Amino acid sequence: SRLFLMSGAIFMEVTALALRHQNLPTNILTLLEDNTWWQMIEELESHLLPFMAILNHLQRDVAQLSDVLHAFAYFMQLYKHGQDDFSKNMVRRLESRWRQWEQPLLIIAFFLHPKYRNSVFNNSLSLNLPQIGLWVQYYYREWFRARPTVILAELSRFVNREYPFDDDTASNFDDIQEYWKFTIGATKELSILAVRVFSICVNSASCERLFSSMDFIHSARRNRLQLGKVFSMAQMRAEIIYNRTVKMSRELEQHIHANTIIHNNESCQEGSAEISPEDEVIEIGDDNEETTVSDSCEYDVNANPDADNEWNTVLSNWSEDLATEYDEGLVSESLTSADPSERLAHPADNSSAKWCLADLFIVELPVPSAVNSLQLVYNME
Ligand SMILES: *[C@@H]1O[C@H](CO)[C@@H](O)[C@H](O)[C@H]1NC(C)=O
Ligand SMILES: *[C@@H]1O[C@H](CO)[C@@H](O)[C@H](O)[C@H]1NC(C)=O
Ligand SMILES: *[C@@H]1O[C@H](CO)[C@@H](O)[C@H](O)[C@H]1NC(C)=O
Ligand SMILES: *[C@@H]1O[C@H](CO)[C@@H](O)[C@H](O)[C@H]1NC(C)=O
Ligand SMILES: *[C@@H]1O[C@H](CO)[C@@H](O)[C@H](O)[C@H]1NC(C)=O
Repeated sequence: SRLFLMSGAIFMEVTALALRHQNLPTNILTLLEDNTWWQMIEELESHLLPFMAILNHLQRDVAQLSDVLHAFAYFMQLYKHGQDDFSKNMVRRLESRWRQWEQPLLIIAFFLHPKYRNSVFNNSLSLNLPQIGLWVQYYYREWFRARPTVILAELSRFVNREYPFDDDTASNFDDIQEYWKFTIGATKELSILAVRVFSICVNSASCERLFSSMDFIHSARRNRLQLGKVFSMAQMRAEIIYNRTVKMSRELEQHIHANTIIHNNESCQEGSAEISPEDEVIEIGDDNEETTVSDSCEYDVNANPDADNEWNTVLSNWSEDLATEYDEGLVSESLTSADPSERLAHPADNSSAKWCLADLFIVELPVPSAVNSLQLVYNME
């Protein structure tokens, strides 16, 4: 990019200066004057930029489930035709991450996006209306503890683009959640389910039994933080966002189904404990020399040593609480699953409910807007 070339040019100036004063080792100077080296850096940059754009986006509260699948499908598009080792590795890693997720939920999120509906999935994978219908019914029952009665008919209307599901109406809305809220008056069940799907915040999604292995919080910006702090931040953040989602769903519930109560007993406990450094996580280091503070929920723990001690106490208290919660979580889980009529088999537990990311889509998906806008910013420099 031009920004990079500019900084490259500046660097060259510095190099020339340093060369005159002879205070840089010659091997470094040779490297700096090597054009291929700069080209390699530029190529690396072109690989990293989309990841950076998408990670930035997925860490924001506005990120939605459909964005996650879109991002994965986009990267798959980029790499699946490559013959080099790097591309093959990327495909392998994307697939292995994708396999760990609750694919039915992510696929529903895509399906309920008015831009995509049933037109994007590979027909030979039987991701058709009846299959989606089963999942939609499942999630409706689990989330609202009510028997869906008309949701399939409503899904069918959505697929057939009957008002308010036509493209003209959908094009009025930038925000998909707003769109589904708008349609609430026209459906009994589907819209409220869709609002729930699109209000799942992907970066606190461990709450929703999702992505427990994702490392959104442990990002490049924060990865100097120790695991314990990251974990506590994840907990806090998850709780705040979870409370907000619950509150919103309750309000909607009262609005629509005056008599049903949402069971939020499937609490944040499970899964959220799993921020585990895996082989796939690039770890830059946990050194504490410099803790970047740029987010409202981050503490500058090194600003004064007392705060640091206090923080440590809070942390150890938290981890004790957590251990208790975890035990309780296990207990309540086994209690609930002992009564099969109360708890349905979870579609995500079905090991056949997995699809190859590379085969999932029959169309080329557009470049995610996060990537587009980042490239725009860079090109304006
Ligand atoms: C979330 O809700 C619970 C129960 O209503 C409350 O005790 C807790 O303080 C809330 N947490 C936050 C971070 O608001
Ligand atoms: C959670 O589940 C327990 C039993 O599993 C039940 O006694 C309790 O009322 C439930 N809480 C809520 C808020 O639904
Ligand atoms: C940690 O827990 C102990 C007792 O369990 C309590 O006295 C103390 O105030 C707690 N400290 C913090 C910082 O929450
Ligand atoms: C598991 O998923 C496969 C593929 O969607 C489906 O054919 C099968 O019926 C499912 N099994 C159960 C028990 O839900
Ligand atoms: C659709 O799925 C089948 C079976 O997995 C696969 O062979 C085919 O290549 C896929 N089509 C596309 C366009 O990806």
